[in-house]
Order: sequence, then C-alpha cells, then structure tokens
Amino acid sequence: MALLLKGAHVVDPVAGIDGVLDVLIEGDRIARVGEALQADAEVRDLTGKYLVPGLVDMHVHLREPGFEHKGTIESETRAAAKGGMTGVCSMPNTNPVTDNGTVVEYVRACAERAGHCRVFPSGAMTKGLKGEIISEMGDMVAHGAVAFTDDGRGVQSAGMLRRCMDYGKMFGKVFMSHCQDEELVGDGQINEGPVSTRLGLAGWPAEGEELQVVRDIQIARLTGAKLHIQHISTARGIAAVRAAKAEGLPVTCEAAPHHLFLTDEAIDGTYDTRLKVNPPLRTAEDAAAVRAGVADGTVDAIVTDHAPHADWEKAREFEYAPFGMTGIECSLALVITNLVKPGVIDYARMVELMSVNPRRILGVDPVSIAAGSLADITVFDPDIAWTVGEDGYASKARNCGFDGVSVTGRATDVYVGGVATLVDGAVQ
Ligand code: DOR
Ligand code: ZN
Repeated sequence: MALLLKGAHVVDPVAGIDGVLDVLIEGDRIARVGEALQADAEVRDLTGKYLVPGLVDMHVHLREPGFEHKGTIESETRAAAKGGMTGVCSMPNTNPVTDNGTVVEYVRACAERAGHCRVFPSGAMTKGLKGEIISEMGDMVAHGAVAFTDDGRGVQSAGMLRRCMDYGKMFGKVFMSHCQDEELVGDGQINEGPVSTRLGLAGWPAEGEELQVVRDIQIARLTGAKLHIQHISTARGIAAVRAAKAEGLPVTCEAAPHHLFLTDEAIDGTYDTRLKVNPPLRTAEDAAAVRAGVADGTVDAIVTDHAPHADWEKAREFEYAPFGMTGIECSLALVITNLVKPGVIDYARMVELMSVNPRRILGVDPVSIAAGSLADITVFDPDIAWTVGEDGYASKARNCGFDGVSVTGRATDVYVGGVATLVDGAVQ
C-alpha cells in the first residue's frame, strides 16, 4: 500500500527544499512531494519532525565474517537503522579479509537477509591488507564492491599505492586511505603530546597521519585516481586536503564525531579504553580545525568508524586493548547537538555531509526528496533529549566513547526503498 508521510519539515539541498511538505511513497520510490497531498494511502503524521534524504555512514566495521564475537552484520546494521542510517559502507578488515568477490558477495547476502539497511561493501586494496599484492579488484567490483581501502592500516609503500591506483582506476571507484605511517607510529597508543607523556603511554604523533595524507594526495595527482582520506584528525591534515581541493585534485575526506567533539584530554586520568581509537583523539586545536573543515566544505562526509569490540577485549590494560569505538547510534544526535543547534552548520549542510556526499563519493544511487527518487528516507525529531547508552545499544558492542553524554535529536523513522526499517524509534 502507498504511504503518505505528512507534515514533516523536509530538508534536501539537492532538490532545493527547506519547508513543510508531504511525501507520497509508492513501492520503492517517491511518487509525489507537495503541500496537502491526498492519496489512497497509509498516512503517518510527522508534524514537528524533519524528513531528509536517507543518511549513509560511509565508514563502518560490521565485523562479519570472522569477528562475530564483536558484532555481526545483523547486529551492526540494526544499530545503523537505530541511528537513522539507510546505508553503510562496510570496511574490509574481516577474516577472511574482504579482498575477493566471494567475501563481497557474502557480506551483501548477509546484509540482504538482515534487511536493516543497505550495505555498500568496500574491498581491500591489497591482499590480506598486507600491502604487498594488489587485491582482486575487478572480481570485487563485479560482485558489488563500491570502493577500495586497506582500512585499519595504511598502504605502507608509496610504490604499492601507485600500482593499486594505476591498475584499479579503470574501475572508476574511489580509493579510501587510512593514513598511518607504521614506522613513525610504532606502538603509539594515544596522541603524542603532554597527555601521552603524563600518562606514560607511547605517543602516536600527528605527523604519522599527516605524512600519508600528503603522500596519498601526491600519488592521487600522479595517477589521476580518486582519493578519499578516511577519519581525518589533525589540523595540518585538513590544511593539506584544503590545498588539494584548491588545486582541483579529485580528493575528498571524512571526519568522525570522536575527532570533532572529543580530545586526548578525555583520556587523562581515566585511561578509558573506549577512547582508544585509531587515529587517536587529538588536541583541542586539531578538533577545532576539523570542525572548521566541516563548516567550510573541506570535510565532505561525517562518518563514525563504528568499530565494535567485545567487553572483555576493551577491559584490559590500555596498551592491550584494541583500537576503536562504536558510534553509529549517536552520530546524528551528536551532529545536531554540537554542530546544528549551535549554528556551526545548518540542516542542509548536515544532509550534504551525512547523505548526499557519502553517496556521491561511493558512486551509489543518489537519493532526493523528489518524485521518481528511491525512497530512502530518514525522519528525526530534533528536540528529543536523551543520554547515550541509557537504554543500552542495538549494537552487539558497548564500547561507545560517548556513553553517558546528553544529546538532543534522534531518528524516529527510517525507510529503505520504501520499506520501514525504524518506526517510532523501534528497529523493525
Ligand atoms: O579505531 C579504529 N578501529 N580504527 C581503525 O582504523 C580500525 C578500527 C577497527 O577495525 O577496530
Ligand atoms: Zn581506519
């Protein structure tokens, strides 16, 4: 039956909409958008809520196959739906590594069965994420991979990165870089600076990231391949991407809420392993520079790097705990609370960062609140006040770095291809 979504404030910068409108869905598409629509349809009153093109988190670790004790495709896409997402891009550091068409196919099949959101799989750039042999890029693309990345690691050799890009650019996909010079970073645990010194933890210097940000931009210039810098965290990294864009290079970047809204000071005195992430939480100056990049267009996408780990894995000495925090259930709320409500960005820019640009960078179907578009839609209430983690998590994991934080704004309803995946805050 057709579905009529009535009375929500629709924001869609692509369609140029910012106002109260009704949206009629028929099948998997939007049939009509307009004022006071009438139709033989199930009606949902969304007065007081916002309705936007479906959000996509383009950096998510689903952990399956291989690390199902941390999370499964079912549990983590459930968490994505709870957070308001209509799609995610999955990272390839699974076991076996997602470096061939069979694993890509497996991820897609599991996602299809779970049905909580779309999963756009990325495939490894190099076999086994080892940085030595080019992965089976063509095979992966044939099975639906949308991007290449060795996320979890940087490709250590510039020559290898060049070969990957020169070979792989024929597929037209984006190369996504986790920037980390392993020689320089070594066993670094947190940002290198006064806090690491005070805590007696090995430092992970900003330069360990920036070296590869700059290097990868150079290799993108050399090869002409599309480059996307993942989870950028430093002021000089942002400056490098800004300069690359000014030069007209095909370079984009993403930032995560934890690099925007948390700093290494939060680890001082707490040794909270949930805050151990890669790249690490940086200084207040770095976080401010990344926020400025979000405001001025240097940052293209907000992603979570949602990285579930089991409680027992995080409940260890700081040095032995794995890197990563979850965050897909609260990223929308954090962006509304810390960027939109204070006026750093408006809702239209938020939609660019969390829906339009991720889809464009990944080269997947664009979505708009317009007749004929795929009906991938996120509805949120901008005024629900809640505390992260108060009702537990849909994710299998609990290592959310924002646990206990008060936020405002929450996804209430999500539609994926016209099918309700979240209704009144409940995952379907
Ligand atoms: O914090 C992180 N965790 N950063 C990464 O790059 C990988 C991820 C993971 O797989 O846990
Ligand atoms: Zn990464």
